[in-house]
Amino acid sequence: MCGIVGYVGGYDCKDVLMEGLSKLEYRGYDSAGVALHMGRDITVVKAKGRLAVLKEKLESKNLPVCHCGIGHTRWATHGVPSDVNSHPHSTPRVSIVHNGIIENYGKLKEDLIKKGYEFVSETDTEVLVKLIDSCYTGDPLLALTRALALVRGSYGLAVLFKDFPDIVYAARRESPLIVGFGKGQNFVASDVPALLKYTREYAVLDEGDIAVLTRDKIDFYNEFGTPVEKNHLTADWDMEAAEKGGFPHFMLKEIYEQPEAIQKTVGPRVQNGLPDLRIPQLSDEALAKIGRVHLVACGTAMHAGMVGKTAIEKLARVPAVTEIASEFRYRDPILSPEDLVIIISQSGETSDTKAALELAKQRGCKVLAIVNVVGSSIARAADYVLYTYAGPEIAVASTKAYMVQLSVLYLFAMRLAMAKGKLDEAQARRLTAELLQTGEKINGILENCDQIKFLASKFMNASDLFFMGRGFDYALSLEASLKLKEISYIHSEAYAAGELKHGTISLIEQGTPVIALATQKDIYEKTISNIKETKSRGANTLLFTTQNQPVPDGVADYVVRLPEFEELFMPMLLIVPLQLFAYYVSVLRGCDVDKPRNLAKSVTVE
Ligand code: M6R
Repeated sequence: MCGIVGYVGGYDCKDVLMEGLSKLEYRGYDSAGVALHMGRDITVVKAKGRLAVLKEKLESKNLPVCHCGIGHTRWATHGVPSDVNSHPHSTPRVSIVHNGIIENYGKLKEDLIKKGYEFVSETDTEVLVKLIDSCYTGDPLLALTRALALVRGSYGLAVLFKDFPDIVYAARRESPLIVGFGKGQNFVASDVPALLKYTREYAVLDEGDIAVLTRDKIDFYNEFGTPVEKNHLTADWDMEAAEKGGFPHFMLKEIYEQPEAIQKTVGPRVQNGLPDLRIPQLSDEALAKIGRVHLVACGTAMHAGMVGKTAIEKLARVPAVTEIASEFRYRDPILSPEDLVIIISQSGETSDTKAALELAKQRGCKVLAIVNVVGSSIARAADYVLYTYAGPEIAVASTKAYMVQLSVLYLFAMRLAMAKGKLDEAQARRLTAELLQTGEKINGILENCDQIKFLASKFMNASDLFFMGRGFDYALSLEASLKLKEISYIHSEAYAAGELKHGTISLIEQGTPVIALATQKDIYEKTISNIKETKSRGANTLLFTTQNQPVPDGVADYVVRLPEFEELFMPMLLIVPLQLFAYYVSVLRGCDVDKPRNLAKSVTVE
């Protein structure tokens, strides 16, 4: 979603802001802008569209070098993408950039209009800047604490006050914000990649925190204006990890990084050949007491949860349910203290997922988070964390994060099964050894992707496409369908193979593309029958199965063969050609692979 960068220091702040914003482009945006302290004035430049438009506008103004400013990429929530709605929003005394949503902006706006303020945009952010202005009597910190106390909703904020050149103010509630420490310069940003060129040392603002940044120091206050201390963290990502490294797109790079990500994530959690979660509170004794598991997440992370659910039930025979976070949070779920809630999120900042976590905690459940971003809100709020070590995932379409979510869920399912006495040591050792082999198998698939490119060219002109499968393959159908939809804009549906004939089969006609996934031997023939049902109605069928499975004549127009492997872990292999398929279709259709329209990398609003 929206991105924030703020800077105070020796460099020309226009360059630092534009550089930082370019590193946040992946989050998704539709307009951008900067506010620059110019002596005792603040100059605002903003524009609808990509950063290139803003850059051109900035250059045309020939502004002098300046050393303090804030910048923003906006993903529209209140009001269409336009110059006037883009950030910063300003009064003659204050300029702000804002991530998040001010829920009570309507009421605040009414009150401000009564006080004489006029409004030009449709945004909640304009209300916020005018609210801060109305609370300002010469002390910026006081103005912020007073104004923010009146606000309901979420905000990550960077603020300039005209009377205080060389100071950036920042504040956060329910929307991530970090500050970066440099020598003679300091930074604020909504995400680590914006800082990496200048510093790796940063601190995360907590709920309600306010930071005051000058060149030489950063002071922190809580929501009441009382000074607080912050821990310094060091980003273990480097610039290279946030660059394309010779690949044409981040998505392709990230698909190829999957074997390494699995190694980094699984390797340290295998001790003496067995899964070891390395969380003292999740000892076998504690795991044995778990009555039920809820896996809660959004989008791709939720699809990982579906694979996790099946693995937990198959291995540990513990009832498990996968839940969409935005449903879970409002459906008054039945939870008991013996239940474990597993929250899955790449960013650790997804608004609905965070709310689901809070609900689970309120209901007395222990929460285990599977998260990629260290120090993110979800990681900090959970009782226990299993980090996935995928490194920065920049492409909006999640690939490597999904892969490592699967690998962690398998480790968890195996350890739970051991604790429950459903998996003996020998079986667990064998499965763990197989899990450690997945990276090598994936490398083999990546080395032979010409067939997938060819198939992408065959299906790229489809307007509607069906995926289907059973069990694990159904969960994979959903993920494959989401991947294709989000980056190629082809409409697609995913169906449990046996369910198609209960309605949707009426859509199958001559030439309708149907992609069937059949990697599980016990249900293979059932899925083959379902493909036949579509074939006999004219479908153009593509089957993904394993090397040695017999494919009866007249079932599949095309077959992709995956290596024979432990069935439990087939999802980790199968997803790779499906990711590549979506990727190549998107490239062939000329879509913006890494930054698909209307989407944001981290969905920090409801
Ligand atoms: O950061 P999270 O894992 O919580 O994000 C959840 C979804 O927004 C995310 O997986 C989304 O569905 C991806 N764009 C899918 O590729």
